[in-house]
Amino acid sequence: MNHEEHEGLEGIPGGRPHPLYLQAFVIFVAFVVSIVCVSLAVAASVWDGVYTEEQAKRGEAIYYQRCGACHGPSLEGGDMTPALVGGVFTSTWNDLALSELFERIRITMPLNQPSTLSRQQTADVLSFLLKQNKWPAGQAELPRELEPLKEIQIQAIKP
Ligand code: HEC
Repeated sequence: MNHEEHEGLEGIPGGRPHPLYLQAFVIFVAFVVSIVCVSLAVAASVWDGVYTEEQAKRGEAIYYQRCGACHGPSLEGGDMTPALVGGVFTSTWNDLALSELFERIRITMPLNQPSTLSRQQTADVLSFLLKQNKWPAGQAELPRELEPLKEIQIQAIKP
């Protein structure tokens, strides 16, 4: 047995842990901490009352001016247009952050005039969609900035 092999074997039982084990352990701890932080950050969901009744009313007016012709008077969708209420809609967006749906509307809708809604109009029309999907209203308005919207999770089924 040459000298190098001898040292390699000696590192395993007892004595000081091999530096690679320490590194792996540190990475593992960092990983667990980051998972905990992420799950705390998205603790809020659409079930927590994230918009107000008044805001949904403003959103309703915007909906019938800008969206209803395609998505239908009851948000039921049409030939080529998806519904914005019901199981297909809520399961499409399930587990995503509300910021994703906000950006989908803000950037791509109305299909014939994309990116023409202001952030406030987008938040208002999104509130109306939340209300129509039976997610409850609350005390504070839905924000129009992305950072807080990233922390609200869409959950099709009440947790
Ligand atoms: C000219 C017709 C038209 C108008 C007006 C329109 N949409 Fe759409 N919308 C569509 C079509 C078609 C799709 C699917 C194809 C696509 O996304 O390009 C869609 C997709 C969507 C989606 C994605 C649905 C899903 O689950 O995949 C959302 C959300 C949405 N629209 C919201 C709105 C809102 C809110 C407005 C009003 C501000 C609006 N749309 C106005 C035609 C329209």
